[in-house]
Amino acid sequence: MRVSVIGCGYLGAVHAASMAQLGHEVVGIDVDAAKTDLLASGTAPFYEPGLPEALAAARATGRLAFTTDPAAAAGSRVHFLCVGTPQQHGEFRADLTYVEDAFAALLPHLAPGDLVVGKSTVPVGTAEALAQRLTTTGATLVWNPEFLREGFAVQDTLHPDRLVYGLPTDAEGEPTADGARAAAVLDEVYAQPLADGTPLVVCDYATAQLVKVAANSFLATKISFINAMAELCESTGADVTRLADAIGYDDRIGRRFLNAGLGFGGGCLPKDIRAFMARAGELGVDQALSFLREVDAINMRRRVRMVDLAREVCGGSIVGLRIAVLGAAFKPDSDDIRDSPALSVAAQMQLQGAHVTVTDPQALPNARAAWPGLAYADTAEEAAADADVVLLATEWPEYRRLDPAALGTVVAHRRVLDGRNVLDPRAWRAAGWTYRALGRP
Ligand code: UGA
Repeated sequence: MRVSVIGCGYLGAVHAASMAQLGHEVVGIDVDAAKTDLLASGTAPFYEPGLPEALAAARATGRLAFTTDPAAAAGSRVHFLCVGTPQQHGEFRADLTYVEDAFAALLPHLAPGDLVVGKSTVPVGTAEALAQRLTTTGATLVWNPEFLREGFAVQDTLHPDRLVYGLPTDAEGEPTADGARAAAVLDEVYAQPLADGTPLVVCDYATAQLVKVAANSFLATKISFINAMAELCESTGADVTRLADAIGYDDRIGRRFLNAGLGFGGGCLPKDIRAFMARAGELGVDQALSFLREVDAINMRRRVRMVDLAREVCGGSIVGLRIAVLGAAFKPDSDDIRDSPALSVAAQMQLQGAHVTVTDPQALPNARAAWPGLAYADTAEEAAADADVVLLATEWPEYRRLDPAALGTVVAHRRVLDGRNVLDPRAWRAAGWTYRALGRP
């Protein structure tokens, strides 16, 4: 099937390559010529494991093209909207400028029977408004939220854990005739994952839009729950990692997303819970989501606490001290630094008078551009040279594996802060380090 993918960022680039791999003929469209040029030459514009291989495989089939020309969407049966919905400057709500622009650019190129498939994360009500504007074109809107994780994006797209179709529905909540036709087309698009047994949830627009923000809110809540427990552990001498292990054995709770530490960042969880609260306020049900305010507050407190811990371990002040920060990306296997806890803590410590040197295996170019005032080093050893404190802020595998004895030979003082609770305290203490972490004695 011929499909267009509008917006070629973390979501769209991966979606375009994956759709080509699933056998479709794909054109990726983005307003950023630098990005489409890179993608057209088979180069991923950002770090995502598996994406270069997916682009190469798709290019080899001759079924994947990229352009800045919105007219290239004409002739596609399905048009995926994959643009970003960042937090609006100075507000909690989502900025829908890119959705609006992409939709307006697509409208003149739609033909009757086309599907416009929204994948962007939007405030509930957006799909209904967009669908209204399609009535004169004869195209149908479907809301089909995306649940991919950065770092696993290709795998999550080709083998999703569920598919959700938000369809136009009648007064009884059943799909309309257009909705049923749209579902049949999407079944063709996703023939492979469906044949693999991927569960499918068919629902109305509102439910589909809410599914996405509800899922991210739940994940954020789970992380903040364990980080709240970490605060309790800090004041009682308990160990949050053991606590997480113990409660995680209960299947109803589960151990995943119970890793305490510097908390969540990135381009999704933080802005999604805020946009969700803003939307609930507009709908007059802000009380229903007031707990998310606390989820956000707990998350932000962890960053402050980490700076305090650095001060504590250095005898009361970090002024003039050298601090090595291992990690700049918001999580491993990504070069994404949007709302990165690592960089937020690094910048705070620098502002408070420390000399901070940051390292990261993939995110240094992005970090340098966003935070030019920090110092940067290519390796953990270089960053840690003469350091008074080493902070592990993003749990890249190479930092988890660091040899405390070897690293001990380059630092000025053997003090390590484990911002992700991934180092073995016994091994580090045995090598003469002062080891401190969030939520551990
Ligand atoms: C998140 C969701 O997990 C995806 O399902 C969703 O599709 C995506 O947002 C999106 O909305 O597009 P992502 O932002 O890639 O994916 O990152 P996560 O793996 O969810 O991690 C988010 C943050 O939580 C990271 O900073 C990570 O370090 C932190 N985290 C995660 C913890 O602090 N503790 C944990 O136990 C797990």
